[in-house]
Amino acid sequence: MDNYLEHVDGKIICRKKVIAQLYSLIGYFDEPIPHSIFIYGHVATGKSLIVQNMLSYLKHNVAFINCIEHVNAKHIFDYILADLSSNLADSTNHKCDSFADFIINFREIAARDTRPIVIVLDKCDKLRNFAISLLPAFSKLRELSGVNVCVIFISDIVWEKFRVKIGVYEPIKIHFPQYTRNEFTEILLKYMPPGYEDTFYRNYLNLYLSVFFRFCRDLNELRYMAKVNFSKYIEPVEANQSNSDNTPLLWRHISPIFKENLEVIYLRISSDNFTKQDQLSKEIESTTRLALSFELPYYAKYMLIASYLASYISAKEDKYLFMKQKLKRRKTAPGKRKTLMNVHCGPYNFPVSRMIAIFCAILAEKVDINANLLAQIPSMCQLGLLSVVGNYNLNEPKFKCCVSYDFILVIAKTVGFNIRNYLSDLMS
Ligand SMILES: Nc1ncnc2c1ncn2[C@@H]1O[C@H](COP(=O)(O)OP(=O)(O)OP(=O)(O)O)[C@@H](O)[C@H]1O
Ligand SMILES: [Mg+2]
Repeated sequence: MDNYLEHVDGKIICRKKVIAQLYSLIGYFDEPIPHSIFIYGHVATGKSLIVQNMLSYLKHNVAFINCIEHVNAKHIFDYILADLSSNLADSTNHKCDSFADFIINFREIAARDTRPIVIVLDKCDKLRNFAISLLPAFSKLRELSGVNVCVIFISDIVWEKFRVKIGVYEPIKIHFPQYTRNEFTEILLKYMPPGYEDTFYRNYLNLYLSVFFRFCRDLNELRYMAKVNFSKYIEPVEANQSNSDNTPLLWRHISPIFKENLEVIYLRISSDNFTKQDQLSKEIESTTRLALSFELPYYAKYMLIASYLASYISAKEDKYLFMKQKLKRRKTAPGKRKTLMNVHCGPYNFPVSRMIAIFCAILAEKVDINANLLAQIPSMCQLGLLSVVGNYNLNEPKFKCCVSYDFILVIAKTVGFNIRNYLSDLMS
């Protein structure tokens, strides 16, 4: 245990208690490991980091699965078996159609590699999308297979939400508590940009957390925002070195910036983009607020983007812009092509079928067009984002997108879609 703590010293901080808890369960080769462990806690509390780090140190036979990355149970079985047999000389490709197949293959691997086996199912709540019995089955894997295996479930949902009627073995639970403000300071200090003094950065973090800590406890987000704001914070120091001790001056300089950036937290855009022209910035800021106030579901956002593209891009251009794979002969990227759209003429009407086709083309993943999805269209009409054109014709209703360019930019940013690639001529 002490050796391990030495190993992680400086890499993982403020997590001694949970590390000790987890290590006491799986860290000793000569003691039996539990059949399952359930690790839960808020986002970015170090769950994946600690489990991954400890398992790579311990040298058990490990399969680490992030359930978000898999499409069905079969995929997960194959992945686990491939991971576990990667050390064997003749690792073959296993194919399982059911959990029973999986157990047979799993036993075979365990017979050949006698190390204790640990299977980690990160984001295990996603397992419920595949089959309701999958999580209980994994919780009983030890009993069903007779192999010395421990399944570690990781989730940000509490265990009580996983209880189903059919028996689940109660796992040993480890809670990862949220970091306190002091702990956040220590962790963020670890990500200090090079070339600054510890106390100087600590002062900055103190000011920074006094504003941001009340609104956000997500380490990933706080780390990003700390970096963005720090480049502004040091401006007076860069202008005059003697200002580095003048905390009141630094505070006066940074507090309006903190305020602005607080409004765009989680968006991964800096208010910097907005401050160039005050009037313009106010307009855009209010559009941002308006756009975000709708809180549209993920696919609805893509539908709105598809509607916007359908409204401002001529149908003639669709083939070139959206059929990228099929038209391999074409050399120019969609963004570089001269498109025929013109923001001053438009929005044009479009049939739903065209919008759905664009929607499918711009989405990275394959999505099933079902009634739930199509129900978003009337909702967006009610919200005034789309409007029906002419008489409502059930066979081929036509719509028009009613949102502005700034509005759609904000929506596109929230889903990480670069709409400018398609609208480059509009900007010039
Ligand atoms: N105690 C810590 N010390 C150092 N870095 C940490 C610590 N906790 C978290 N981090 C950093 O925060 C980030 C998020 O951590 P991690 O992915 O382990 O969180 P998580 O609890 O698995 O979150 P999620 O529920 O979103 O999967 C990582 O980049 C990690 O390096
Ligand atoms: Mg994680």
